[in-house]
Amino acid sequence: MHIDFSGLFHQSSKDRSGEGGVNIPLDSSLWPVEWKTLFYKQYPRFKTITLGDARPRGDLSNLIRSRRSHRDFAGRPLNKARLGTLLKYACGTTSEEENGYHRAQPSGGGRYPLEVYPIIFVGGDGIPSGLYHYNIKEHGLDALWTRAFVKEDIAELFTYPWAQNASCALVITAVFERNQMKYGERGYRQILIEAGAIVQNIYLVATALGIKCCAIDGVREPEIERLLDIDGFSESAICSLVLG
Ligand SMILES: Cc1cc2nc3c(=O)[nH]c(=O)nc-3n(C[C@H](O)[C@H](O)[C@H](O)COP(=O)(O)O)c2cc1C
Repeated sequence: MHIDFSGLFHQSSKDRSGEGGVNIPLDSSLWPVEWKTLFYKQYPRFKTITLGDARPRGDLSNLIRSRRSHRDFAGRPLNKARLGTLLKYACGTTSEEENGYHRAQPSGGGRYPLEVYPIIFVGGDGIPSGLYHYNIKEHGLDALWTRAFVKEDIAELFTYPWAQNASCALVITAVFERNQMKYGERGYRQILIEAGAIVQNIYLVATALGIKCCAIDGVREPEIERLLDIDGFSESAICSLVLG
């Protein structure tokens, strides 16, 4: 028997209060403090590499028209400046007011459930190959594990052979509780929508910088989650891109 889990999920996460907003009081002074708290992961015991944030150039309509999924990577390293611009304008903090409340992407309820982990296959210019976490507060890379990647290592993470010629991957993970504590199961919808916004930002900024990129669903998620040291339940990899 086929069960349509997507339909079931959407039915069970519909707001039936008739009020919209899943019974969230309009008066935010009535909200519990954790609904107003911004949560983000930090790795204080690891070294953080500070990134630059030079503005990408390009006409928006041209960038939208010329954006493509590329799979013919040359494996050249992304330098620190370009990676900094990419992360800042895809998912970084764009306003210092209210503790970094505004970011490059919209976020359902301003809960910011997503974390981004760059995996650098080909190191260069102050960023050795290895595993990093994008530190939203410092606009830097928390260096979790410096290590070399050969093609076989990349093949253990991503199924498509062309990914082995990429110079880096960006893995987007979700910490579900940040949205679900406020919106219940409906929070999951917001999380995927926000990830899509980041993916499009990455494509557009990459296009402006002349970096090839492709979203990739061919991901061995248990291996990725083992590498990132996340349990796949409270925090799970939900979407990845490879770039070069
Ligand atoms: C969520 C998502 C996952 C994707 N996964 C893959 C993938 O696993 N392999 C692949 O070759 N392309 C993948 N793509 C890229 C699509 O194939 C591509 O966007 C589509 O063919 C349209 O081409 P364009 O992006 O060049 O306009 C993915 C795109 C999205 C949005």
